[in-house]
Amino acid sequence: MQGAPPLILQLEGVSKVYRSGDFSVTALADVTLNIRGGEIVAIMGPSGSGKTTLLTIAGALLKPTHGHVHICGIEVTNMDESHLASIRRQKVGFVYQSFNLLEALTALENVRVVIQNGSRNGRSDAMERASHLLDTFGLGHRIHSLPKRLSDGEKQRVAIVRALAKDPDLILADEPTANLDAKRGHEVMELLGQKALELHKAVVVVSHDNRVRQFAQRVLWLEDGRLSDHPGG
Ligand SMILES: Nc1ncnc2c1ncn2[C@@H]1O[C@H](COP(=O)(O)OP(=O)(O)OP(=O)(O)O)[C@@H](O)[C@H]1O
Ligand SMILES: [Mg+2]
Repeated sequence: MQGAPPLILQLEGVSKVYRSGDFSVTALADVTLNIRGGEIVAIMGPSGSGKTTLLTIAGALLKPTHGHVHICGIEVTNMDESHLASIRRQKVGFVYQSFNLLEALTALENVRVVIQNGSRNGRSDAMERASHLLDTFGLGHRIHSLPKRLSDGEKQRVAIVRALAKDPDLILADEPTANLDAKRGHEVMELLGQKALELHKAVVVVSHDNRVRQFAQRVLWLEDGRLSDHPGG
């Protein structure tokens, strides 16, 4: 019998307190979460519940105030910035609500630069791989377009291709449907779900958009920084 897929993301007793002057805000309180390869988890929660904070900590862009974070079994909690940057580069793909594409580059180039990652070699291989990936996302006819010539749904699909291009184990998506209409939001989530499953990625999508739930295998709820299995739990 095959064992369970590997643990890709582990948050253990994670808290985050933002302090400024005399004020402090507890954005996350004692969050524990384990996600394995091939799992798509939706974390739902209202504005201010801590969703972006959770995702930013999960992607090792922000350190928790308490608790431990492991990515692919590697403890990143107290790692120095140069090691963190390398873990993020190799293991994590981010997708944002506002797409964050490079406006001066075509769809193809936006993906190519991520694959090549500063290396001078392998340009034509990277082009080919980028082009193939974009094609599997229904963007074969758009590869030479600049972001400003793409619809919002197309932009988000390019952004997802870019997140997948480095072949990371973990995909973190912050409100990926927030700027999309219902139809495009559905298309984007469906593609993300399909590809993640096919490529055995672990995916965390945080959203307050209820429609995101149908694409997840597991739905969790975040309220006032506390994570639970049930709304209001
Ligand atoms: N850099 C910061 N400094 C101080 N407080 C912050 C900071 N970032 C977030 N917060 C506070 O932490 C709490 C959680 O914020 P967070 O952005 O994680 O929520 P969210 O669920 O992503 O909200 P939204 O749905 O509006 O994006 C909020 O009360 C917010 O005001
Ligand atoms: Mg947010």
